[in-house]
Amino acid sequence: MELKEKIEELNGAIDSASITNKGEQEAFRIQFLGSKGAIKNLYELLKSVPNESKKEFGQLINEVRAKAETKLTTAEDVLATSTQNQSHGLDLTRPGETTELGARHPLSIVRNEILEIFKRIGFTVSEGPEIEDDWHNFSALNFPPNHPARDMQDTFFITKGDGTDPKKEMALRTHTSSVQVRVMENSKPPIRTVSPGRVYRNEAISARAHCFFHQVEGLYIDKDVSFADLKQTLLYFAKELFGEKANIRMRPSYFPFTEPSAEVDVSCTLCHGKGCNVCKYTGWLEILGCGMVDPNVLDASGIDSTVYTGFAFGMGIERIAQLKYRVTDLRLYSENDIRFLQQFKAAH
Ligand code: PHE
Repeated sequence: MELKEKIEELNGAIDSASITNKGEQEAFRIQFLGSKGAIKNLYELLKSVPNESKKEFGQLINEVRAKAETKLTTAEDVLATSTQNQSHGLDLTRPGETTELGARHPLSIVRNEILEIFKRIGFTVSEGPEIEDDWHNFSALNFPPNHPARDMQDTFFITKGDGTDPKKEMALRTHTSSVQVRVMENSKPPIRTVSPGRVYRNEAISARAHCFFHQVEGLYIDKDVSFADLKQTLLYFAKELFGEKANIRMRPSYFPFTEPSAEVDVSCTLCHGKGCNVCKYTGWLEILGCGMVDPNVLDASGIDSTVYTGFAFGMGIERIAQLKYRVTDLRLYSENDIRFLQQFKAAH
């Protein structure tokens, strides 16, 4: 074979050689650049070339050698950096995989906030069952036997007894006031507790009503607890929740289990009392019901009403969340629409 052809063949072999690991790198070096390699061999052949052609062929061989050397050093560099990056089997140059963080449900955020406010002034947290008997939901709370709140329209009844034992008639609790009775039955004053939970009412589902919602109940029983204590506690609560500027007012109301009873309004969180469409231009928003625990309830729950007095209050968590986050449709809270829920990521 002519020397020229050999040189061309070697050129092609260098181009098509692949170097993807240390072994191939060493094999390449030996094959082409080693002391017994192909290029060394070409220089040997150069000796028998006529003198006038030596310069031309010498140059061609030099070029092939330079090409092989460049290919070898480039491959060395590439292999060195990629072994660095793949140390421990990890390719640290790959983009990271992001993990989507969930958000707390707005009702959980508001519930936790309410509980924290009361924990700071010494209230404990207590809970009771959602499937409740007539005694804890109604009878012990001074509901007369034929009170309209026991009516089928409001209550989801589960089992109806023969009417002689209210502890055998089961229903889904209609309010968290049932937990008041359970706490009083099971502990001695002084009692300071808040009870969060889900409650159920037989109502058609709409933007403004739902068949279940959430409440936080409060109960304070001790000697000499007065209506002034109730008012001051709720004013503290309103300021903690809505800000220092918040004010409250009380309106007379009626609940079978408190006497006297009141409904509490907070100064409008949007217009601060000036009047806007959220507060329907009254400057006030209703947030909870409360009152002094009726002596009948204390006695029914095993607490001596001649020694102790107390107050109770109950609020809807959805209502407060609505004021905090301007959610105007109750159904959003239970539809699990990710677009709604994601908005609370930053909240807590
Ligand atoms: N249980 C009442 C309701 O669901 C609220 C309330 C609780 C009122 C405690 C007074 C005292 O509307």
